[in-house]
Amino acid sequence: MAKNDDTFRKVIAHAKEYGYIFASSEIYDGLSAVYDYAQNGAELKKNLKDYWWRSMVYGNQDIVGIDASILMHPKTWKASGHVDAFNDPLIDNKDSKRRYRADVLIEEHVDKLDKKIEREVKKAQKRFGDAFDKEQFLETNERVLRYKKEGQDILKRMGESLAKEDLADVKALIEELEIVCPVSGSKNWTDVRQFNLMFSTKLGASADSAMDLYLRPETAQGIFVNFQNVQQTSRQHIPFGIAQIGKAFRNEIVARQFIFRMREFEQMEMQYFVKPGEELEWYEHWKQKRLEWHYSLGLGKENYRFQDHENLSHYANAATDIQFNYPFGFRELEGIHSRTDFDLKAHETASGRNLKYFDPFENKSYIPYVVETSIGLDRLVLAVLSNSYQEEELENGTTRVVMKLPAIVAPVKAAVLPLVRKDGLPELAKEIIEDLQWEYNVQYDDKESVGRRYRRQDAAGTPYCITVDHQTKEDGTVTIRDRDTMEQERVKISEISNRLRHTVSARDWIAQLKK
Ligand code: GAP
Repeated sequence: MAKNDDTFRKVIAHAKEYGYIFASSEIYDGLSAVYDYAQNGAELKKNLKDYWWRSMVYGNQDIVGIDASILMHPKTWKASGHVDAFNDPLIDNKDSKRRYRADVLIEEHVDKLDKKIEREVKKAQKRFGDAFDKEQFLETNERVLRYKKEGQDILKRMGESLAKEDLADVKALIEELEIVCPVSGSKNWTDVRQFNLMFSTKLGASADSAMDLYLRPETAQGIFVNFQNVQQTSRQHIPFGIAQIGKAFRNEIVARQFIFRMREFEQMEMQYFVKPGEELEWYEHWKQKRLEWHYSLGLGKENYRFQDHENLSHYANAATDIQFNYPFGFRELEGIHSRTDFDLKAHETASGRNLKYFDPFENKSYIPYVVETSIGLDRLVLAVLSNSYQEEELENGTTRVVMKLPAIVAPVKAAVLPLVRKDGLPELAKEIIEDLQWEYNVQYDDKESVGRRYRRQDAAGTPYCITVDHQTKEDGTVTIRDRDTMEQERVKISEISNRLRHTVSARDWIAQLKK
């Protein structure tokens, strides 16, 4: 299905209709950029977390998982640089009074150049038909190369100006590109200013003694401050990693695009501690490993690409994003950063504790370097939902909406449907449910005709429908209908669990994907 604004609107509406995602406190008209996961969304998110944790923690003998608190000593955020430098560049339009992130306005301008490239490709495809070689066209067509260079130059200049904190040049760039306010249509802009993204709160009951705290804007610092405790108690030696899944909070200014940019979101991060000088090798290792993990979800390799950072943060000596092809274009899904020894060194200085690691093989102490992999769980949910939503034309001329979710993360693994609500079929269906429910999230459904029930389960993303009919009573068999092919097969009741194994077992899922 084409990926565009229209698809995106449909995905958002569908996510609400089928119990995936609701606006937070909707009865009070919602809270901007804060969302609640409903019955299916919570399952999908839980399954994605589990898939990540299994491959990251259980799949690597040198990685352990922790769960640090959201509230941390405020000195943490001074040492990490967040108090002074965790800012977004803001700009206001004087006519509409709307506030924007200056970098997002510029990136959206560059997106338009990407769209122009897509249109050139489509035109050429039409003109040359089967003989069309897309890769060659992208590498040689003059107009495409011009658009590409224009986009790259804009992003390079923006990155350099932001790194130098040259906000006047960021504004100059917006003016030179003649970017208009999407609401007022005017180019009447204020200067660009920095805005700190951390939410603050207070610890303690009385106003005098209360301590100012922040809600953590990333989970990583909970790993850094625990580095020594975890290393010593887990008896790991360098290189080794610490993984964590948890909430993070950012007072995002431009909070659009549904769950792509939220104020309360979840991260799945891993910090890999290595010997100084070996970090770039490990950085390459984790880049490939993370990309392969994304491929293993089966959303299509063509939907991912790396976007290396042109201008590095002060603490990094290499950084890239794994971008996903969302309905609104390729955007960051996961960041992979070689963070040097910046964080541990900063915490050593600020806390006065010795955070060095004693290397028994080299007989010396040093502050390890860190390679970080950091993925936004909600962005992963959005990638899965937007890629899975499909409208299909069927042979009989009707259309169906189907969510082709990877079975390993689908909320409900199978629906068990008695063909009719009589003749003992509901009782048989419930027995099957009782047998499966400790291993699988299965759902009983006997409302409306079986055809309508199939459609409802297709739209909800349930990979299998198990139908109990009169033959079940005679020979103990049921039909299993595959959501994607709509094909049905008769199997023994005792075989069902084996047939569903790949929907819960990562090993079976990957084996099936390779077939
Ligand atoms: N510890 C490194 C770190 O936090 P980041 O690039 O700022 O790096 C990592 O964030 C990931 O967190 C991003 O790749 C993105 O998937 C997710 N993320 C960041 N801000 C987000 C937001 N406002 N809403 C949803 N996800 C967000």
